[in-house]
Amino acid sequence: MAILRTLLLTLSAAATVASADNLKPCLRQAVSKVAFAGDLLYQAVDVEVYNLDYPVTPAAVAFPTTAEEVSAIVKCAANNGYPVQAKSGGHSYGNYGLGGVDGAVAIDMKNFQQFSMNTTNWEAVIGSGTLLTDVTKRLHNAGGRAMSHGTSPQIGAGGHFTIGGLGPTARQFGMALDHVLEAQVVLANGSIVQASDTQNQDVFWAIKGAASGFGIVTEFKVRTEPEPGTAVQYEFSLKIGSTSERAALFKQWQAYVSNPDLTWKLASTLTLAIDSVIISGTYFGTKAEYDALDIGSQFPGANGSAVVFESWLGLVGEWAEEVALELGGGIPAHFYSKSTAMTAETLMSNETIDEFFEYVDNTAQGTLLWFLIFDFEGGYTNTIASDATSYAHRDALIWLQTYSINLLGDVTQTQIDFLDGVNDIATIDKAAYAAYPGYVDPRLSDGPEAYWGDNLPRLQKIKEEIDPNNVFRNPQSPSPAA
Ligand SMILES: Cc1cc2nc3c(=O)[nH]c(=O)nc-3n(C[C@H](O)[C@H](O)[C@H](O)COP(=O)(O)OP(=O)(O)OC[C@H]3O[C@@H](n4cnc5c(N)ncnc54)[C@H](O)[C@@H]3O)c2cc1C
Ligand SMILES: *[C@@H]1O[C@H](CO)[C@@H](O)[C@H](O)[C@H]1NC(C)=O
Ligand SMILES: *[C@@H]1O[C@H](CO)[C@@H](O)[C@H](O)[C@H]1NC(C)=O
Ligand SMILES: *[C@@H]1O[C@H](CO)[C@@H](O)[C@H](O)[C@H]1NC(C)=O
Ligand SMILES: *[C@@H]1O[C@H](CO)[C@@H](O)[C@H](O)[C@H]1NC(C)=O
Repeated sequence: MAILRTLLLTLSAAATVASADNLKPCLRQAVSKVAFAGDLLYQAVDVEVYNLDYPVTPAAVAFPTTAEEVSAIVKCAANNGYPVQAKSGGHSYGNYGLGGVDGAVAIDMKNFQQFSMNTTNWEAVIGSGTLLTDVTKRLHNAGGRAMSHGTSPQIGAGGHFTIGGLGPTARQFGMALDHVLEAQVVLANGSIVQASDTQNQDVFWAIKGAASGFGIVTEFKVRTEPEPGTAVQYEFSLKIGSTSERAALFKQWQAYVSNPDLTWKLASTLTLAIDSVIISGTYFGTKAEYDALDIGSQFPGANGSAVVFESWLGLVGEWAEEVALELGGGIPAHFYSKSTAMTAETLMSNETIDEFFEYVDNTAQGTLLWFLIFDFEGGYTNTIASDATSYAHRDALIWLQTYSINLLGDVTQTQIDFLDGVNDIATIDKAAYAAYPGYVDPRLSDGPEAYWGDNLPRLQKIKEEIDPNNVFRNPQSPSPAA
């Protein structure tokens, strides 16, 4: 790291000679609030590591209030050879908003709370530091509007709208990043640009899927939808159950969701945990329409329930409670997570499903707090060409996210081996390994290939053009082509 920094120093700033590090005075000049490693309460108050398994200490955390300040901070870091990452909600699984490794300049975007709604075309401007809970409330208060995003309220727009943004309405409306029409971006040389389909198109393409390596988004302009009205939250559960009963329920679910004619108004997730298989999700429509689907007949062995929500805020609140039960929501923890995609062509065969459940039930898991979450995707999200944005995995029908928590300290090798084994079996039937760029897995050796697939070469070319010195980087961001 030190060697790389020295190299960059020499490369990027002939003026800066290899003299004393000018970062501190430069940042103090650039922004009114900035904290440095070694300051009192730095780690607890300014840094706020989310995944305790990856302790990281940035060289500095800056708290700008304007795009001009962001620009000045980026210039200070670039001229002194420091990597830069923005932190919006701080929910990266690898703490990449803090750089992912020691010594970065982190730019905390929490002051970027801009919001406005154009009530003619219902396009909204949203500051990148806005947390999803406030995105929901502000869109609601501005005329009963909504957009797709994930269910955890503490996620930041900055890291979420730029990496994907999967959630229960993605089958109907696309992912969060599919809503982005324009963004203001600070580039590696400090210039502040507007990016859209008509201005700085390469920048726009890159930030819709891979922004952390390309710039800092200060605000987004997004399309919105009318809030979904009545919705039904359903659940089918199998408690305990034998290995073959659990496998049978999974097969029934996979067969059901792989029907290409299934309505886009249905969201569905299958969660496998220590003592249960739970199929849950939302139907966006009336109870009568839901009943007409007769989902229960697909899962004869499971106990079913359905609750009707008339209010959008009530439904979003219910999702937040569910995710908090599993992943703890905003609370820092020691955890490890992996993801992989299954397309309609690479679903697990029935034999593989049997093998999968045998493995899960007969392997040391290392904790009681593990979850294997199969999210049904497809729909609108997959109607968009895979090279239309840098987010590449438009063919993912099911995303598997595996999650293992240790309340006592560092995640153990047993926990890691268990999740590796789960992923190995789930991917037996497929060719290229795909991982969701929003669930970063710092242990993945070919991260960029897995996150961006066929779009990686174009990302590297753009990187070479707009950030040749790799100012914006974390351990798994695309490197310049040359
Ligand atoms: C409990 C939990 C639940 C989750 N649920 C979902 C879900 O339902 N659906 C889903 O799709 N994902 C989900 N995620 C993953 C989440 O979308 C990603 O971790 C996302 O990147 C977090 O964004 P952030 O701003 O909170 O994180 P940060 O740690 O602040 O940032 C993450 C990455 O994005 C970059 N970044 C942040 N802000 C900006 C910016 N303004 N400009 C450019 N780059 C920026 C950072 O540099 C970093 O590399 C979940 C994560 C957690 C922890
Ligand atoms: C709102 O949208 C309308 C229709 O597209 C447009 O003419 C108008 O300029 C927008 N207003 C603002 C403030 O951007
Ligand atoms: C269904 O619920 C009943 C009552 O709580 C319980 O006894 C039974 O084991 C459950 N069945 C399944 C398949 O989980
Ligand atoms: C796999 O199992 C499901 C559910 O039991 C069944 O509907 C399907 O036909 C099976 N597939 C094959 C190829 O046997
Ligand atoms: C900054 O970088 C962008 C993208 O490469 C470029 O278009 C612009 O001219 C650069 N600005 C300056 C002042 O060098």
